[in-house]
Amino acid sequence: MARVKALVAGNWKMNGVKASKKEVAALAKRLAGTQKPDCDVLICPPATIVSTLKDAAKGSKIAIGGQDCHAKESGAHTGDISAEMLKDAGASHVIVGHSERRADHGETDAAVRAKAEAAHRAGLTAIVCVGETEAERDAGATLKVIRGQLKGSLPDGATAKTTVIAYEPVWAIGTGRTPTPDDVAKVHAAIRKALEARFGAEGTKMRILYGGSVKPANAKELMAVPNVNGALVGGASLKAEDFWGIISAYL
Ligand code: PGA
Repeated sequence: MARVKALVAGNWKMNGVKASKKEVAALAKRLAGTQKPDCDVLICPPATIVSTLKDAAKGSKIAIGGQDCHAKESGAHTGDISAEMLKDAGASHVIVGHSERRADHGETDAAVRAKAEAAHRAGLTAIVCVGETEAERDAGATLKVIRGQLKGSLPDGATAKTTVIAYEPVWAIGTGRTPTPDDVAKVHAAIRKALEARFGAEGTKMRILYGGSVKPANAKELMAVPNVNGALVGGASLKAEDFWGIISAYL
């Protein structure tokens, strides 16, 4: 198994205003302490505060990302934000195809793929989310669903530098429920296999994050699962102390 440096990413969703920069400052202080976690750290706030948080993160190892982008660079798309705009605001990453966007905005695999391509065009790393619903899981269709989403959502030419996969079972997001480490291992092994089959050596190195109710209390166990190369964290990324508790899995 290739040694892949972990990424712990926070997805703030529709939470955070300018004053939230105090959480970034508190986390930066933690990261500047004597205990150095062996992972990269990313926060994806609402687009309105990407540049504010980028300023607050200055001098620290905290990277800032967006939560979604339009497929086009510019144009008549009221309310949308392009990958180039996120880059200009200071982002280095963008989440695409989060299950909340797939559900709330009807984003298809093809739409997600176009957004990932836009991220690459703008020089951003795309964090491409996949995950089964509870009904799909109950029907025994988890791996089939995940393979289909990967096939449809990942652009050709994706590399380990430009692309991160986040496996987030929809039923585990914001619910406090998580799959067992064995279940996570099975899905992540299947994702790794699919990535290697399609992208060769790059697929061996691509990060595969686990997301869905990751907390300080379960992070160590989940992050120790083979082929889990970090976490995508929602609720527990909003407060610096909670997020640090998860990052601490890599101390
Ligand atoms: P959660 O969200 O950690 O609050 O479950 C994860 C996500 O949706 O990325």
